[in-house]
Amino acid sequence: MQRFDRNGDTMENNVKKNEIISELRQLYRSLYGDNVQAWLDLENILEQADSGRPEMLKRLDEERLRRPDWFKERDRLGMQLYVQSFAGTLRGVLEKLDYIESCGVNYLHLMPLLESPEGRSDGGYAVSDFRKVQQSLGTMEDLSALTEECHRRGISVCLDFVMNHTSEDHEWARRARAGEKEYQDRYFFYDDWSIPQEFEKTVPQVFPTTAPGNFTWCEEAHKVVMTTFYPYQWDLDYGNPDVFNAMTDNMLFLCNRGVDVIRLDAVPYIWKELGTNCRNLPQVHTLVRMMRLVCEVVCPGTLLLGEVVMEPSRVVPYFGSIEKPECHMLYNVTTMASIWHTVATKDVRLLRHQLGQVFALPKEYAFLNYIRCHDDIGWGLDYAFLSRFEIAEVPHKKYLNDYLTGKWPGSPSRGELYNDDPRLGDARLCGTTASLCGVETARKTADEAMLTWALRVDLALHALVLTMSGLPILYSGDELAQENDYGYHDDPLKAADSRYLHRGRLNWEAAARAEEDGTIEHRLFHALRTLENLRLEHRVFDSRADTWIASTGDDRVLGIGRYYEGEKLIALFNFGESGLSVSIDELGSFTDLSTGEACDNGSILLFPGEHRWLICEF
Ligand code: GLC
Repeated sequence: MQRFDRNGDTMENNVKKNEIISELRQLYRSLYGDNVQAWLDLENILEQADSGRPEMLKRLDEERLRRPDWFKERDRLGMQLYVQSFAGTLRGVLEKLDYIESCGVNYLHLMPLLESPEGRSDGGYAVSDFRKVQQSLGTMEDLSALTEECHRRGISVCLDFVMNHTSEDHEWARRARAGEKEYQDRYFFYDDWSIPQEFEKTVPQVFPTTAPGNFTWCEEAHKVVMTTFYPYQWDLDYGNPDVFNAMTDNMLFLCNRGVDVIRLDAVPYIWKELGTNCRNLPQVHTLVRMMRLVCEVVCPGTLLLGEVVMEPSRVVPYFGSIEKPECHMLYNVTTMASIWHTVATKDVRLLRHQLGQVFALPKEYAFLNYIRCHDDIGWGLDYAFLSRFEIAEVPHKKYLNDYLTGKWPGSPSRGELYNDDPRLGDARLCGTTASLCGVETARKTADEAMLTWALRVDLALHALVLTMSGLPILYSGDELAQENDYGYHDDPLKAADSRYLHRGRLNWEAAARAEEDGTIEHRLFHALRTLENLRLEHRVFDSRADTWIASTGDDRVLGIGRYYEGEKLIALFNFGESGLSVSIDELGSFTDLSTGEACDNGSILLFPGEHRWLICEF
């Protein structure tokens, strides 16, 4: 198979490419049988995308192939933002790149920006045209200009690829609604409710309160259509090769616009089968591997980031195997949820256990580490582990939610529930990092002691994310301790979805205050910058470092050890409400990275919510 030869490709490259194509072909056949026409169509799509790939991006591909671990390097720091909330438009973002760089950021996740009907957009996750930018945000040309400028500055760009569903306004959906069988076959259409009802017996609900059920009646087609998320998000049927082909084409279109990282949105859901829970089915892994191979052929510098928000055991398989990898990166979702559990319980045993499991994984696996993102916090914790301490799932979720919404006596947190499902006792949680850490309450009550504590916790959580191997991501606004935005309650298009609580506009006045001594913004922003610089300066933060759980002798204090090429780091995090002293069971004389002071291994003092990075060379 010589069709994807590029001028100047070496023999070795051609052999490699042929191997990739032949594996792709084999996997394609395993899903779609001997559908020769569909395969030829796919080949054609790959060929077109390959020849249409701009030279500049090809050069970037080559650079990245020479440094395949570029995204795991310790100089990488990400930020996730909504274009409209951050700077209004794509051009606005371009103008604000200096600010982004001033945050130390060189990886930018732009939240969904493709065309999506207002009021039925699920924050942009209901795409009606995969090749058109939302009018209010700009144009495809603006996107290309932004990615180009980002690349010039060494910033990589991540974009969502919402592949599980389209908006009901997408052309395919419109044609399906009008009765065109070819397009109905791209979705899951049923003449009546009998099969949908069978599905409902085994398929859980994603939005039990805001969008109950997994199917919707489509009056115009006079049929029932599968809608796992909102009723206006129609699930695509990847059992149909035309869907895979067309969506691959859409993905490659974005890659050729300079998108470096494709976030595979809701990827566990992309294959459905009656009698199953329609999540994480084996075919999903085949599809992801196929997408990885497609990228290796056309845009080998592109990364796949899997959005797998699932119970712990389901997440890691999306890395695939070392020989046959699937996603390059996955969200460290269980760690994120375990962190908030620890904030609420002040007991680090679960987090210690969870991190111990992460540290035991091969170093090739790269996690995207984060504290907050645009979504709610779902309580997907290791309940089997918690049951050892007689902690049961339903009452525990209630406790976490009570604490983090500030209902629990003495809790400074201010969050709101999300998709409260009283049947299952399964509410999730929303709020910004600062509000959940207590900054909002402390500021409103002018309680300086509480504020100091809350800011310490906020900083410690960021320090924890910066301590882990992988790619740390800031959620835009968090660098300024931005609080909840309650304004969404008054917006009829948003009021039902409490995730808007933490999707407020970036407050540029607050950003200016980051340069004013003594302000809350200044206190957090600069402390965070100091940590980022330390991470940059010390090789112990390299992703190749050995990592372990360091004992602290106190269940309120988490200890993490790292070692790499003569540098050893012990990171301590006091989740307790009081100041305390711990000892570390490590040889060597340690110095505090932030203050440069020597420390006594037998007695390390930690204020409430404080963290320490201790380093020792040998
Ligand atoms: C992902 C997104 C979420 C969205 C859902 C449906 O989980 O993160 O915001 O609602 O997919 O597309």
